[in-house]
Amino acid sequence: MPAVIFDLDGVITDTAELHYQSWRAIANELGIPFDHQANNALRGLSRPQSLEKLLGPRSGDFTPAQKHDLLARKNDDYLARVAGMSERDLLPGVEPLLRSLRDARIPMAIGSSSKNATFVLERLGVTSYFEAVVDGLAAPNSKPHPEVFLLAARRLGVPPAGCVVIEDAEAGVAAAKAAKMRVIGVGPAERVGGADVITPTIAALDTQTVLSLFPARSAGPNR
Ligand code: BG6
Ligand code: MG
Repeated sequence: MPAVIFDLDGVITDTAELHYQSWRAIANELGIPFDHQANNALRGLSRPQSLEKLLGPRSGDFTPAQKHDLLARKNDDYLARVAGMSERDLLPGVEPLLRSLRDARIPMAIGSSSKNATFVLERLGVTSYFEAVVDGLAAPNSKPHPEVFLLAARRLGVPPAGCVVIEDAEAGVAAAKAAKMRVIGVGPAERVGGADVITPTIAALDTQTVLSLFPARSAGPNR
């Protein structure tokens, strides 16, 4: 039985914008220019990786304790924003897709770099669709490392070749490819061009396209 592994941030909900607001507050405080384009380069990366990218050549100016403080404050700000989320923050087309995959009895998992994935899913009210939630706590090697997707596949009991990943991040597409999975990229080709199929939005993706990426079942007698 094949399976679908969803990234969370930027696929199920637009937390990319909330991450942006929280990082921008830190960047402003430090006098570092930060715009949406810079934020897009952080998609799929862990919190510490994101901070390193944001600090760039100034990374060496900060002690580990100062970085720890910046990360904690960024996350406090982000969590306050997530607390205000509800099912209204599901991206258009997500719930119909989840429902139709569930109706087709396709097992589903979340594979996210976020350590806040469980909280975000609860706020969105969609936890029950997923048989496994693998987050940045369970898989410390962040995307583009394949660990998060390989662990999700293992928890679903499906071999990697039977999994289709839905991702919005360049690092996430690379992680899915490294896991030897098929991948649907959500967003512009400049970002997710490495995917097998690209869709501008989840709303534009139909269930049939997802199912068409599953490996063909080998036909044969008594199978
Ligand atoms: C990813 C996001 O899903 O999670 C990144 O795309 C984010 O932008 C990363 O940095 C880590 O998230 P969190 O919630 O643990 O800070
Ligand atoms: Mg994402």
